[in-house]
Amino acid sequence: MKKQWHKIMDGVWRLRLGVPEALTPVKLRRVPMAERNLSAAGLTGNPRPHFAADRVIFKTTRRGCLAMLPLGKEEAVYGFGLQLSSFQQNGRKKTIRVNSDPRGDLGDSHAPVPFYLSTRGYGILADTARYCSFYCGSHADPPHGIGVTTEELYRSGKTEDSFTALDVPTASGIDLYYFAGPTMKEALQRYVLFSGGGAMPPEWGLGIFYRGYSPNDQKATAELAAAIREDHIPCDVFGLEPGWQSHSYSCSYLWDRKRFPAPEQLIGHLHDSNFRINLWEQMFVHPSSPLYRKLEKYSGDVKVWNGLVPDYTLDTPRRIFGEFQNKELIQKGIDGFKVDECDHSDFIRVAWSFPEYSMFPGGMDGEQMHGFLGIYAQQILSEQYLRNNRRTWSNVRASHALGAPYPFVLYSDLYDHRDFIRGVVTSSLSGLLWTPEVRQCANAEELLRRLQSVIFSPMALINSWMLKNPPWKQYDIERNNAGVPLDDGGELQEKCRKILQLRMRLLPYLYAAFYRYFESGIPVFRPPVLEFPHMESFRGTDDAYFVGDDLYFAPMIAGEQSRKVFLPPGEWHDFFDGNKIWQGNCEYEFSPAPEEILLFVRCGALLPLAAPEEFVSGRTVYQITPHAYGRADRYCCRLFADDGESWELLQKPDCGMTLEFRAEDKVCRISAGKHARTERYRIHEVKCMGTGTIPRKLS
Ligand code: GAL
Repeated sequence: MKKQWHKIMDGVWRLRLGVPEALTPVKLRRVPMAERNLSAAGLTGNPRPHFAADRVIFKTTRRGCLAMLPLGKEEAVYGFGLQLSSFQQNGRKKTIRVNSDPRGDLGDSHAPVPFYLSTRGYGILADTARYCSFYCGSHADPPHGIGVTTEELYRSGKTEDSFTALDVPTASGIDLYYFAGPTMKEALQRYVLFSGGGAMPPEWGLGIFYRGYSPNDQKATAELAAAIREDHIPCDVFGLEPGWQSHSYSCSYLWDRKRFPAPEQLIGHLHDSNFRINLWEQMFVHPSSPLYRKLEKYSGDVKVWNGLVPDYTLDTPRRIFGEFQNKELIQKGIDGFKVDECDHSDFIRVAWSFPEYSMFPGGMDGEQMHGFLGIYAQQILSEQYLRNNRRTWSNVRASHALGAPYPFVLYSDLYDHRDFIRGVVTSSLSGLLWTPEVRQCANAEELLRRLQSVIFSPMALINSWMLKNPPWKQYDIERNNAGVPLDDGGELQEKCRKILQLRMRLLPYLYAAFYRYFESGIPVFRPPVLEFPHMESFRGTDDAYFVGDDLYFAPMIAGEQSRKVFLPPGEWHDFFDGNKIWQGNCEYEFSPAPEEILLFVRCGALLPLAAPEEFVSGRTVYQITPHAYGRADRYCCRLFADDGESWELLQKPDCGMTLEFRAEDKVCRISAGKHARTERYRIHEVKCMGTGTIPRKLS
């Protein structure tokens, strides 16, 4: 049969090769494509693939099937979901296998996605949940025949055009989806819109998340929450770890009434103190759960922690599980979940989770189900919130293709800080969200550095499940749990509070940036290569990134005395001292003290900075002082002014507000959409930053 591109939506094309599988991410999708957003996203026309369909080589093999796609020598390739160990993927082999304990940089991760993006300005999705492998130009022929010297032998094939080979086990065909640019950023936007659009948080989702000590009972939970308020640490969400349940590994989904005798009271009390509540759970159903009997016949043939693994490909178990969660937890005031261990691990001594040879009644085997379980958790729970006209901002430990629309942020038990920072940008490039969560630390500097990076991520999460007391009281786990506080007169706590307050100051800015993600698929936290795909200096940059359009953040890691930052083109102000201006397109070396943050503001930006709230609610009125940076005639920025948590207003296209500031004025001119709740923002006089200074250049 002749190979042909088939149009799916403007700029998105499908190439059907052989006979594809029946159970794939696209075929089982539940969220429709956000095609209606194409024009709001600025994506016009119907760009075609840059290579003809018949340039793709396809074969069925004894292993399954193989597709080979052209890869130009100038192309740099990114993607494959959350990748903690590497960024640019040329020359590597990546296997898309859900695993929480990856060994080596082989592709395994909590959220691998069979999707890649190229600086040539396109993206490719392979529609399979199989453990497929991409060979990103790694098996091209050596450029000049066989070499004899070591250098010749190991020289990469990068100087020649080559191919990306995709090996899909067991399948006799595959659908490939092509996302056109013309830029890499537009290709990513098309992928996110094809997935259903970007996830939109409630406003409170952008506040601070604190997860309490797992063994805490009701009383200790309430006391810890009260202490956070007494210390004036900003906090919007309080998370309860496994200890809330009568059985957690696997789950009963019932409160442990011995330790939590009156959960309704605790929920009421936490809500009254302006906390949202997040509960830890798994997808594995324990025999003591009222769901067990109902789900038994719809489950796979292997149990995990003695619990069922229901097959949520099927409607009945999906309804049973979803309705229970809704009635018993969501409607009783639970605002979000942390869905743990829906990934997999078989590289550790005790291989928990179901093996690949498991069989499920809907037709999947364990290999496919590993690709789907995290997606199912996100689908089922977010559908229930939607039903209640509420938004959530939750956690999940696994995701896969088409994960973009789900309001779930990935996290991990791993903890390398450098890798955690890389996760922010790699996840963005596949339409996913990731938090480099903060736990215990070796010293005060590490705590500060980790907090600085977590506030510049989709979820500012302090996961103290192993710590009795907040880490700023004592970062060392043993001393913390032995009740030995730091002897610093609260100095570290004060420094940490300031960092968390910075997140709260940026909340309206971030909220507007997330609305843009929701609408147009442009990720909030994005690596510079997405903006400047042809700048060689950015091709490997995975340790500094844009935060919205106007901020550029360069995280530091404890122990580093200094770091280099290559600033993007333009001029950049120091966020903390607006009078310091740096010429972009140059590299600098900075040596900030542990409490100092390398944060740059684009010259010409208008930043809607808020007075930091300790928490936000629909009643919050943000006190905004717009900051205008550098010399310009006109500055402007957007705010998104809805009620902050329902779906209803979100669907209305005109909740936006534009602030415009002209150099001759003192205040902003405000224009607002018909449905904008302008009363949510009080706009104060503009502060001009660094207007009189001339950009400087350091050697
Ligand atoms: C882990 C999870 C941690 C914590 C812990 C509780 O699997 O990654 O964040 O929730 O379980 O037992």
